[in-house]
Amino acid sequence: MTGGTAGAVRQSMVIANWKMYKTAAEAEMFVERVKEEVKAVKEVEMVICPPFIALESLSRLMGDSNLLLGAQNMHWEKEGAYTGEISPLMLKESGVKYAIIGHSERRRYFGENDAIVAQKFSAALSFGLIPVLCVGENQQQRSAGETEKVVQEQLLTALKEVDENRDILGKMVLAYEPVWAIGSGTAAYPEDAASVATFIRSLLQERLGDLSQQVRILYGGSVKPENIRDFTSRENIDGALVGGSSLKETVFVQLVQAVR
Ligand code: 13P
Repeated sequence: MTGGTAGAVRQSMVIANWKMYKTAAEAEMFVERVKEEVKAVKEVEMVICPPFIALESLSRLMGDSNLLLGAQNMHWEKEGAYTGEISPLMLKESGVKYAIIGHSERRRYFGENDAIVAQKFSAALSFGLIPVLCVGENQQQRSAGETEKVVQEQLLTALKEVDENRDILGKMVLAYEPVWAIGSGTAAYPEDAASVATFIRSLLQERLGDLSQQVRILYGGSVKPENIRDFTSRENIDGALVGGSSLKETVFVQLVQAVR
């Protein structure tokens, strides 16, 4: 648990973003094994974001566990002629609680810009899914000293259309993922990540007032069991969004244990 200055207590969180890894059968095997190992964990919220095709079966398997289900992406409409897309309503029906929105791989390979991300963000909220909004600078922006500028633009555009009085906004999750740290093996310095997290909290405070104290801010980018605690022990970092290291059962359990 981490605390906010206004007295809000935020539950720590580890989100596994599996990206395009694991077949449905492999995903099921992972959950069967891990759910037993983490049975006693109460302090850390654990979310698995598998490929879409595994959502249904994982939802069933997770029913009697403390693992929660997340989606890696979603469309913003309820239904329509959008070949290959999945709607927030469909995710909700499949037992999904969280939806990752605006991951840098979506921005980079699939042309998602801040305007699309904003649409998805507000759609997630209206369908009762909790958005995990990803923000972060690339290497070039970092070298130019533009980290805060980029993060501010991404965050404020996503929040533009939403009504700040809605309590569900306090549930949203922010993930600071510097693009250059993703999958590179080189994580950010914890103090730099903490400074960006504090900056994000101050932007949220301006936009949402006291609700901002409930919002969980995660760090993502080359997180592993050896370094996760360096991030989550910081005041404004409430957990981690993990790619590669979340794919192995034993390593995922180590990540969770390290945060407890
Ligand atoms: P890695 O943990 O593999 O660096 O990926 C981070 C990430 O993109 C999580 O969304």
